[in-house]
Amino acid sequence: RFRLMKITIDTTKCSGHARCWATSPDVFELDDDGYALAYDGEIPAELAVAAREGALACPERAIAVE
Ligand code: F3S
Repeated sequence: RFRLMKITIDTTKCSGHARCWATSPDVFELDDDGYALAYDGEIPAELAVAAREGALACPERAIAVE
Protein backbone atom coordinates (compact mmCIF):
# COMPACT_ATOMS: atom_id res chain seq x y z
CA ARG A 1 0.00 0.00 0.00
CA PHE A 2 1.31 3.42 -0.96
CA ARG A 3 2.33 5.73 1.87
CA LEU A 4 1.81 9.43 1.48
CA MET A 5 4.86 11.64 1.77
CA LYS A 6 5.50 14.89 3.48
CA ILE A 7 8.36 17.35 3.17
CA THR A 8 9.88 19.22 6.07
CA ILE A 9 12.43 21.99 5.60
CA ASP A 10 14.69 22.83 8.52
CA THR A 11 14.78 26.59 8.18
CA THR A 12 17.74 26.81 10.54
CA LYS A 13 19.80 24.77 8.05
CA CYS A 14 18.54 26.20 4.76
CA SER A 15 20.96 28.84 3.56
CA GLY A 16 19.45 29.59 0.20
CA HIS A 17 21.40 27.36 -2.19
CA ALA A 18 18.25 26.93 -4.31
CA ARG A 19 19.39 23.51 -5.51
CA CYS A 20 16.12 21.95 -4.35
CA TRP A 21 14.14 24.29 -6.53
CA ALA A 22 16.52 23.99 -9.50
CA THR A 23 16.22 20.20 -9.33
CA SER A 24 12.50 19.89 -8.65
CA PRO A 25 10.62 23.13 -9.36
CA ASP A 26 7.25 21.35 -9.14
CA VAL A 27 7.86 20.54 -5.48
CA PHE A 28 9.96 23.42 -4.12
CA GLU A 29 9.60 27.14 -4.33
CA LEU A 30 11.79 29.93 -3.03
CA ASP A 31 10.64 32.82 -0.94
CA ASP A 32 11.60 36.42 -1.70
CA ASP A 33 14.91 35.96 0.10
CA GLY A 34 15.79 32.79 -1.81
CA TYR A 35 15.03 30.32 0.94
CA ALA A 36 13.14 27.16 0.25
CA LEU A 37 9.42 26.74 0.68
CA ALA A 38 8.13 23.21 0.52
CA TYR A 39 5.06 21.93 -1.16
CA ASP A 40 2.35 22.36 1.44
CA GLY A 41 0.71 19.15 2.62
CA GLU A 42 1.03 15.63 1.36
CA ILE A 43 3.00 14.98 -1.80
CA PRO A 44 1.04 13.44 -4.65
CA ALA A 45 2.46 10.12 -5.84
CA GLU A 46 3.63 11.54 -9.15
CA LEU A 47 5.88 14.04 -7.35
CA ALA A 48 7.45 11.56 -4.93
CA VAL A 49 10.61 10.98 -6.97
CA ALA A 50 11.07 14.71 -7.57
CA ALA A 51 10.68 15.36 -3.85
CA ARG A 52 13.46 12.92 -2.99
CA GLU A 53 15.74 14.25 -5.71
CA GLY A 54 15.25 17.79 -4.50
CA ALA A 55 16.04 16.75 -0.93
CA LEU A 56 19.22 14.98 -2.05
CA ALA A 57 20.29 18.06 -4.00
CA CYS A 58 20.45 20.22 -0.88
CA PRO A 59 24.07 20.57 0.28
CA GLU A 60 22.91 21.59 3.77
CA ARG A 61 20.67 18.50 4.15
CA ALA A 62 17.91 20.83 5.23
CA ILE A 63 15.12 18.83 3.60
CA ALA A 64 13.49 15.75 5.07
CA VAL A 65 11.09 13.65 3.02
CA GLU A 66 9.03 11.26 5.09
FE1 F3S B 1 17.75 25.76 1.16
FE2 F3S B 1 18.91 23.54 0.54
FE3 F3S B 1 17.07 24.43 -1.00
S1 F3S B 1 19.90 25.30 1.46
S2 F3S B 1 17.15 26.66 -0.79
S3 F3S B 1 16.80 23.79 1.11
S4 F3S B 1 18.96 23.48 -1.65
